[in-house]
Amino acid sequence: MKRILKWTFLLIVFGLFIWFEYAYWTSTNDCDRKNAAAPTNPMKAAVYCEYGLANLKIEEIEKPTPTDDQVLVRVRAASVNPYDWHFVEGSPKIIRGMIGGLRKPKDTRLGVDFAGTVEAVGKNVTQFKPGDEVFGGRQGALGEYVCVKADRAIAHKPAELTFEQAASVNIAGITALQALRDKGNVQAGQKVLINGASGGVGTFAVQLAKIMGADVTGVCSARNVDLVKSLGADHVIDYTKEDFTKGDQKYDVVLDNVANHSLSENRKLLPPNGKYVLIGGGGANEQGWIGPLALPFKAMIYSWFVSQKMGMMMAQTSQSDLTYLAELIQSGKIKPVIDRTYKLSETKDAMAYLEEGHARGKVIITVD
Ligand SMILES: NC(=O)c1ccc[n+]([C@@H]2O[C@H](COP(=O)([O-])OP(=O)(O)OC[C@H]3O[C@@H](n4cnc5c(N)ncnc54)[C@H](OP(=O)(O)O)[C@@H]3O)[C@@H](O)[C@H]2O)c1
Repeated sequence: MKRILKWTFLLIVFGLFIWFEYAYWTSTNDCDRKNAAAPTNPMKAAVYCEYGLANLKIEEIEKPTPTDDQVLVRVRAASVNPYDWHFVEGSPKIIRGMIGGLRKPKDTRLGVDFAGTVEAVGKNVTQFKPGDEVFGGRQGALGEYVCVKADRAIAHKPAELTFEQAASVNIAGITALQALRDKGNVQAGQKVLINGASGGVGTFAVQLAKIMGADVTGVCSARNVDLVKSLGADHVIDYTKEDFTKGDQKYDVVLDNVANHSLSENRKLLPPNGKYVLIGGGGANEQGWIGPLALPFKAMIYSWFVSQKMGMMMAQTSQSDLTYLAELIQSGKIKPVIDRTYKLSETKDAMAYLEEGHARGKVIITVD
């Protein structure tokens, strides 16, 4: 019996090894084909044929053609998110096996958030027409054109918003909204702490929590204290001087964009029915093999043994949330915070800056 178990185990390990080697060496992308033939209808786009920011280039590739259900958008501005560096760096490494391609990135296009003008629509599209100004999210947005399904993450851009402002909304704004409203269920009068209040998600979150009527505490470094106050935070904790987990103050909801404290330290901040909403965390060079992906499991198991709700939230694309956020910006209730603006040709510099982990609001790419 022992022998059978031993040999079964060894066969499984050997099988996994063969599978890994096969998947690794057959992992490929369309770069060789693209390099062999010049595009007939070229456009410029950010492309990475190998993992690593050093391999990111602006290249001429084939301009996409919309299918019957798609909208072709001429991108005027885009924004970058930590989501993008997870893909371009293939980090944490497990992401390569799960969605990225083990040896080479499967999808060589970068970016998600965009704003621009509709150039053409498929024959089934009724909501949008050429000339409409739109914004939203679609993988591969860092380029001159992007095709988006008309019923997905695309909405009309209010005329008052600049393309740069509109391009800042999709990932960061929707994440902040869904974390506070759907996962945190924030109610007027509640106390909310936002760790990482000065970044892309944090700057939206502070303003949205105020709209929800919360008493907001933002955590950031000294240089961002005035910014976070100006967004409406009632209290600001400078993390270089004070550890927010060491005080006596309790918060109904903790929104964590940084994940630099343990679950038990965060739990101490919550009343018995409090909620801890984990968004992400860890810098581009701190991801290792599994990065923040272990945290949701830890939080889920931890939650079984405590009265508080503690867990990770993954934002979902939503046309109605995009429209709602645009209305809030249009009416002046919230304001996107734009840190730096780069040209498409400077995408690598923009990503390198974002990877430092100290952006103040959003980093924008303009596409001429
Ligand atoms: N789960 C989801 O669906 C989802 C969606 C979007 C984003 N995310 C994740 O959420 C995280 C935040 O995203 P983001 O777009 O806001 O990133 P970001 O814009 O790069 O955040 C940068 C900010 O983090 C702050 N920060 C760095 N270290 C800090 C510390 N020790 N304490 C407090 N603040 C600190 C920096 O402030 P200082 O300069 O003052 O240090 C900076 O303003 C990322 O890990 C991202 O991957 C998850």
